[in-house]
Amino acid sequence: MLSFVFLITIAQTVDWTAEERRLAGTLTPVPALPKSPTNRFADDPNAAAVGVRLFHDERLSSNGSISCASCHRAEYAFTDQRNVAQGLGRGTRNTMTLLDVAHVRQPFWDGAADSLWMQALEPFEAPLEHGFDRVSVLRRIVEDEPLHKAFTTVFGSIPDVSDTARFPPATPRPEAAAELRSAWSTMDDQDRKSVNAAYANVGKAIEAFERTLTSASSPFDQFAAALSAGNDEEASRLISRSAQRGFQIFLASGCRNCHAGPRFTDEGFHSNGTPPPSGERPDTGRWKGHPKVLRSPFRADGEYSDDRSSDQARITAATRRQPDMVGTFRTPTLRHLVHTGPYMHDGSMETLEAVVRHYNRLEGAMLDHHGEALLRPLGLDEASEADLVAFLRSLSAKIDR
Ligand code: HEC
Ligand code: HEC
Repeated sequence: MLSFVFLITIAQTVDWTAEERRLAGTLTPVPALPKSPTNRFADDPNAAAVGVRLFHDERLSSNGSISCASCHRAEYAFTDQRNVAQGLGRGTRNTMTLLDVAHVRQPFWDGAADSLWMQALEPFEAPLEHGFDRVSVLRRIVEDEPLHKAFTTVFGSIPDVSDTARFPPATPRPEAAAELRSAWSTMDDQDRKSVNAAYANVGKAIEAFERTLTSASSPFDQFAAALSAGNDEEASRLISRSAQRGFQIFLASGCRNCHAGPRFTDEGFHSNGTPPPSGERPDTGRWKGHPKVLRSPFRADGEYSDDRSSDQARITAATRRQPDMVGTFRTPTLRHLVHTGPYMHDGSMETLEAVVRHYNRLEGAMLDHHGEALLRPLGLDEASEADLVAFLRSLSAKIDR
């Protein structure tokens, strides 16, 4: 009887190869924050203190009730648990996590920004999000005396936008994009520049805050550290056996071609064959996102950047639009998934089970179109699908609510 129990226990332990041990060690911990040379305020705590207020300020929207935090909610790893975002209107994309976002080089699913400070300036003027405009953002800051003081202490003066003939606000309505542009075009060139300079600092303050949003260590981190140190006994108690088997499946299934390194992303743009929505035109992804960076005055190699010779500035200046960008999206991190569903750029997969089923079978996947050679049906049985899901769940740290 004793030997019978012993045999069962042996059968349940997971054996590890030297290569799996080595790989485990490369997947933890999340490294220290990279520098953000185009924003000289990135690590200034006073800038972050301004940024946290701007991030939560609902007055910076045309209906007075939308802030960044309306969609990026701390309790859901800074997402909203919706399929697609809901601001002034219903968007087309799934809200992205902001945990560890300082590691992101080309923000948005389609890389439509080349820094976090540039990214932060987009939602205010997006008709379906805040539906606001940059002059009105500055006016709200100027009107709030303590905020104005905190802002100017860090960044210097804001132009006096109180003269509404000289600094016209755009009509605050979701459909006001054209009016926003025309109000802007009536302004004096020098005034536009001084508004942009102050507006860039709004983004830089928000980036300084976002850099403080780092994740805690996940069960997988503890497990991988133990396994790579050869402490199998300890490792085997840190995540479930199912998750351990799932880790082996993850390593064997080519996921790492795109979900590489401790954040489980290569920061590159790919198609994973997410089936297009029925009856709607597929999202062209990076094909449309890339030119948005080039059109923006806030690009990393532009006049409001604090380091135009930085790597990021060079990449922006050198990247050309290529046909193979069509339908590609930035590989998302696989950390925090427990909190961030639904999944994919369009929120079309409700659960991790659905995601794993997609990769396993690739039913309806748009692969030929994109020529992604990296994906093949995996041929996993149901138990192995469940193991892979258990592994993915082990990558999420707890969030204090
Ligand atoms: C209406 C909901 C909504 C609001 C309001 C909103 N966001 Fe987002 N956020 C999204 C969605 C959706 C995406 C992905 C959009 C895309 O890729 O097209 C996103 C993407 C981002 C990203 C990119 C993350 C990455 O990994 O690339 C950052 C950073 C971000 N938002 C910060 C902000 C800030 C700062 C504000 C306020 C100025 C803000 N968001 C307001 C929904 C929202
Ligand atoms: C060819 C590159 C590539 C490979 C290989 C790949 N992925 Fe992905 N993965 C992506 C991209 C790109 C997305 C986002 C696609 C989109 O939004 O349309 C994604 C999305 C995901 C998501 C959703 C994350 C979120 O926040 O929405 C999960 C989970 C995921 N992949 C897991 C896996 C697993 C597990 C494997 C291996 C079986 C794998 N991926 C293989 C590129 C890849």
